[in-house]
This record gives sequence, C-alpha cells and structure tokens, in this order.
Amino acid sequence: MTAKLVLETTSLNVQKLPQHIAIIMDGNGRWGEKQGLSRIVGHRKGAENLKQILRYSKHIGIKTLTVYAFSAENWGRPKLEVEFLIGLFEDMLARELKQMHSEGVCLKFFGDLTPLPKSLQKLIAKAIALTKDNQKINFNVAINYSSRQEMIRACRNLAVMAVEGKLDPNAIDESTIQKCLYTANFPDPDLLIRTSGEMRLSNFLLWQLAYTELYVTQTLWPDFTIAEFELALKDYASRDRRFGKV
Ligand code: IPE
Ligand code: IPE
Ligand code: MG
Repeated sequence: MTAKLVLETTSLNVQKLPQHIAIIMDGNGRWGEKQGLSRIVGHRKGAENLKQILRYSKHIGIKTLTVYAFSAENWGRPKLEVEFLIGLFEDMLARELKQMHSEGVCLKFFGDLTPLPKSLQKLIAKAIALTKDNQKINFNVAINYSSRQEMIRACRNLAVMAVEGKLDPNAIDESTIQKCLYTANFPDPDLLIRTSGEMRLSNFLLWQLAYTELYVTQTLWPDFTIAEFELALKDYASRDRRFGKV
C-alpha cells in the first residue's frame, strides 16, 4: 500500500497542494441502492473509504481535512437510517482511534454534539483529549453540523461579550467572527470536494468557503478512490486563485 501511494504522489505538484481540504461525502445511499442493497451498506462502505482518503491526505502532506459526516438536517431521515449512522460513527471512532492516534492524527469535531448519545459524546471527548498534540494532520469531522447554526452561535457569543462590556461592537471585524467559529484555529479551506454531483453546499461552512475552489464529481463517495482524489488535486493545482484581483 505504501509503495503504491509513493508512486502515485510523484505526479502531484506538491507546490500547489491545498493546505486545507473540505469534503461533502455525498452519495452513500445511492451507492447502496445501485448495488441492489440498502442505503446502509453504502454508509458502511463510505466510512471505509474515508479511512483511505484520510491516510492518503496525511501521506501527501495535507495539513487539514474537514469532512461533512452528518448535517443538522440529516435528523430528518428515517429513524433507522439516523440510528445506524450515529451507531456507525461510534463504532468507527472506537475501532480507529488508537490507530489514528499512533499515526499522528489530531481530531476535532464541528457541530452541536449535545443531542448525540452520551456514550458517543464521551468517546469524542476522549478522542479530542488523546490526539490534541498530534501534528501529522488535522482531521475535523462535522457531526450535527449546520453552518447557519454555527453563525448563530458565534453571534450569541459576541452579543454576550458586548453586553458584559468585554467587546466593543464597532471593533467586530472578520477576524472577530472567524475566532468564534468551529474553524477558529484553521485557515479557510482551499479546496471543497463534493461527490455525487449535487451542485450545492447543503449548509456546510458557508462563511469559510467564501474563496474556496470548488470541485464537484459525479462519482459517489464510496467510489471516490485515491486516483479520483488525485484528479481533484491536479485540477486544483491548475486553478488561478485571484481573490478578486487581476
Ligand atoms: C452522504 O450520503 C452521507 C450522509 C448524508 C450521512 P447520502 O446518505 O446523502 O447519500 P445519497 O445522497 O442519498 O445517495
Ligand atoms: C450533505 O449531504 C450532508 C453530508 C454529506 C453529511 P445531504 O445528502 O444531506 O445533502 P442534500 O440533502 O442532498 O442537500
Ligand atoms: Mg446525499
């Protein structure tokens, strides 16, 4: 596996690698159905795929990977699917934590974790504490995440500080807000990948994606291989990021 990875990375322009990649891992359900199986099978396969993409990202030197695992809107799915997904997060984290830690992964979670089962909340707290000093790659998992809720939370925090006299409202600027988001300690994503063809953001990182390069592929998430990932990275390397200038 390692030898193959090294071979594949030689064709990448390391000078133009994104520092921070965000991924909307979409299409699990359709993948399961396409196999004549259930949506749940797609979720399981998708989770396995994430392991490969995380390992490869670390291997090529991506500093931060942020993935959308479960949106605040996803609670509206059938109860069985929601329960399966929440169970899957806990199983995966329990199973993979030791390995991720030994590989230098620093884990963070974006979203309101309070409605999650207590056992999962405890495991998440343990994962954050255990991996906090790791430096190989930052791996952020958005669970029960909503970008609008994230902004509301930021506004409330700032309002409280203003009311308490600790913040001058006229001093609020972009960096003040940025520091109140889950992504406070990370640069904005350079590249957003969305699998399965949907041309929308689905309430993901609306503030942070202001100048992010977008890459949408028809490939369903469980089929998003390392070769496909490299295509996205090569496409990114060919972009001219102007940030409004000429
Ligand atoms: C993404 O795949 C995973 C989650 C949203 C949890 P989907 O479950 O949305 O798969 P499709 O889009 O229905 O195929
Ligand atoms: C976005 O996918 C959320 C995740 C990948 C976790 P959805 O499948 O929920 O998005 P919509 O419903 O197609 O916008
Ligand atoms: Mg979907």
